[in-house]
Amino acid sequence: MAKIQRTLGMVKPCNFKNSKSIMTNIKDAGFTLSGATCFRWSKQAAAEFYIEHKDKPFYGELIDYLTEGDVLVFVLEGEDVVSRFRKFVGNTDPKKAAKGTLRALYGESKARNGIHSSANVGDAEREIALSGVMAVDAGS
Ligand code: CMP
Repeated sequence: MAKIQRTLGMVKPCNFKNSKSIMTNIKDAGFTLSGATCFRWSKQAAAEFYIEHKDKPFYGELIDYLTEGDVLVFVLEGEDVVSRFRKFVGNTDPKKAAKGTLRALYGESKARNGIHSSANVGDAEREIALSGVMAVDAGS
């Protein structure tokens, strides 16, 4: 049997107003929610969250975007949930995202793509710890 994983999703500030319909889409697609919280990132914590992009030319713009308003951060758990949710979120660029994916539905542009999903299990655990989501531990 595949191991139960956790992944972190985030409704970014430009989409905070759409949080309810986004979470309905996610639940209707069969994902299991194990925790959620709303807050506003500090510049310092946002810079840490996206630390793997620190050498990219868009890093400053990305931090400004993430800190411009409130976010909804949530944890999903289930078998193979990291890649299943990433597929449901869609391509980084909403113009290239498959029809029906969250970024196709709610993303504005590649920079302001509206939704985040963890890239792998290691990133998910790091991002969950950094966000302080009180989530059920899928391993317990
Ligand atoms: P996300 O998948 O949450 O993680 C990295 C973010 O950087 C990505 O979503 C986009 O918001 C942003 N991003 C990725 N590529 C670019 C780019 N080429 N230009 C500007 N922003 C980008």
